[in-house]
Amino acid sequence: MAILKIARMGHPILRQAAQLVADPTAPEIRRLVEDMIETMDDAPGTGLAAPQVHVPLRVVVFFVTAARAAREADREGGQDETDQSATHWTPAADPAREENQGEGVGLTVLINPVIEPLGVEKTLAWEGCLSLPGLLGEVPRYHAIRYRALGLDGQEIRREATGFHARVVQHECDHLNGIVYPQRMTDLSRLIFTSEMHHAEMHHPDRA
Ligand code: NI
Repeated sequence: MAILKIARMGHPILRQAAQLVADPTAPEIRRLVEDMIETMDDAPGTGLAAPQVHVPLRVVVFFVTAARAAREADREGGQDETDQSATHWTPAADPAREENQGEGVGLTVLINPVIEPLGVEKTLAWEGCLSLPGLLGEVPRYHAIRYRALGLDGQEIRREATGFHARVVQHECDHLNGIVYPQRMTDLSRLIFTSEMHHAEMHHPDRA
């Protein structure tokens, strides 16, 4: 296992479309995934795509804690960009990382993922990205999606997702198509430094 170097916005690897994985069960794919998980935990982040560690393959890892999913759901149900709870969440300390709890999603590996929006509704929320350290942006994403992918065992994964779960999957899969979140933004005045986030009265989003 190894902590890999994370590519930053501007590196060409983040602008190119990643290639399909021919054999999800291959040992080198398992090693890649193990290294991606270690890198994501070290950062820390809530998701990571292979191009972010300079590997042009369609591989994503992510997880969503129940606390994070619930916070996001509260925001969508009430106010939008402001969050009064202001809880800073540490992924390594949260047991939901290990298994599904509530609305959380356990650590998931997606190989060759495909996303289909369910409906046209999009919601705005703040996102961070390990490839854009120190920045946050308010990004529109489909509220509900369906996605399918292969796991490390070669078995198909099919899920429907809403809210923060759907947001993370859309963010990570964008990386596989050479897209970083500012390209999805409709109002670049909402691209800010993390150090200024208190002006927006929001909590620190998880980076992906
Ligand atoms: Ni990202």
